[in-house]
Amino acid sequence: MSSRKLPKLKIGDLEAEIPIIQGGMSVGISLSGLASAVANEGGIGVIGAAAIGMLEPDFKTNFKEANKRALRKEIRKAKEMTKGIIGVNIMVALSDFEELLLVAIEEKADLVFLGAGLPLKVPFEALKNSSTKVVPIVSSARAADLIFRYWAKHYNHVPDAVVIEGPLAGGHLGFKREQIDDPRYSLENILPEVISVIRVYEKQFEKKIPIIVAGGIYTGEDIYKFIQMGADGVQMGTRFVATHECDADVRFKEAFVKCKKEDIIIIDSPVGLPGRAIKNKFLEEVKAGIKKPIRFLWKCLKPCDFKKVPYCIALALTNAKKGNLEEGFAFAGANAYRVDKIISVKELIESLLIEYEKAASV
Ligand SMILES: Cc1cc2nc3c(=O)[nH]c(=O)nc-3n(C[C@H](O)[C@H](O)[C@H](O)COP(=O)(O)O)c2cc1C
Repeated sequence: MSSRKLPKLKIGDLEAEIPIIQGGMSVGISLSGLASAVANEGGIGVIGAAAIGMLEPDFKTNFKEANKRALRKEIRKAKEMTKGIIGVNIMVALSDFEELLLVAIEEKADLVFLGAGLPLKVPFEALKNSSTKVVPIVSSARAADLIFRYWAKHYNHVPDAVVIEGPLAGGHLGFKREQIDDPRYSLENILPEVISVIRVYEKQFEKKIPIIVAGGIYTGEDIYKFIQMGADGVQMGTRFVATHECDADVRFKEAFVKCKKEDIIIIDSPVGLPGRAIKNKFLEEVKAGIKKPIRFLWKCLKPCDFKKVPYCIALALTNAKKGNLEEGFAFAGANAYRVDKIISVKELIESLLIEYEKAASV
């Protein structure tokens, strides 16, 4: 018989009391405030690193230094606020990916979650000599196999865990538009495929490689379902936005409370990936072909052709995070319309635990 209580999540020598990871949400949505609150409840709190320096005074003139400084500060602040587990989410597509990864290692982040691209070439020596665990985020068994095969061949080592992000997640998605609603690409279908890939590397390297699922996980019942299917943990983003501790402005959180099912849409992000967001006037204007002035002239994302894009996505997301949804928009998961109030991280985790136990006792 399966246990009624949520299992712990072990990643190497790290042990989280509950197998719930708060997904990294960049441009200042998950900083030390949210990450430490989740870690204090026994989960894993994650700081989003992309454009984290947006609030530093020299961001416009020296964005790389501003990002590094802000990330360093946030990791230190988070560690002051919790003794729990703190990770950093770094998008591989960032032009300062390696610099930010080195800061996370230097500041002894417990883990780094590496998504939006395949983390193949990494500063392995620095990682090997640190306690920081590496967790790639993938959207297919093929991507998982590519990463693990590359690491096995070049580093004689494999990542410490893997996150599978399915098509219901918020933010940039690792799927083509036409795959998003195709049941063959559902998280439920991808999970067993990734499990069979990972089992091979677990055997080869004689270590447990936990598999974490993300995208559309909303209740404790959902967590129970995926644990029964063989996942070791879940990563959740949307639910953590609607918490008091989330580092975004309350107007950003209220956009989640107010939105309806039909407001959650798929956009073509200027960086060439589909993304899930809450429809608003800004996005309608973009869709109508209205170009938004671009004030910043650097490439924070490698695939961004900043001379051609209709707007700067980092700026639009930062405006929204600050509560200025007139000049930006909110990324959100497919279930964001189910959010009906802003609660504390503690209340959220407690309700997930109760729902899990209920589902487990049926
Ligand atoms: C507002 C927002 C910002 C996000 N930013 C990032 C990010 O910077 N990097 C990343 O890998 N994932 C990002 N995500 C994805 C989340 O980390 C998480 O995996 C995903 O939202 C899970 O799906 P859920 O929202 O249905 O729980 C973001 C999601 C949201 C809602």
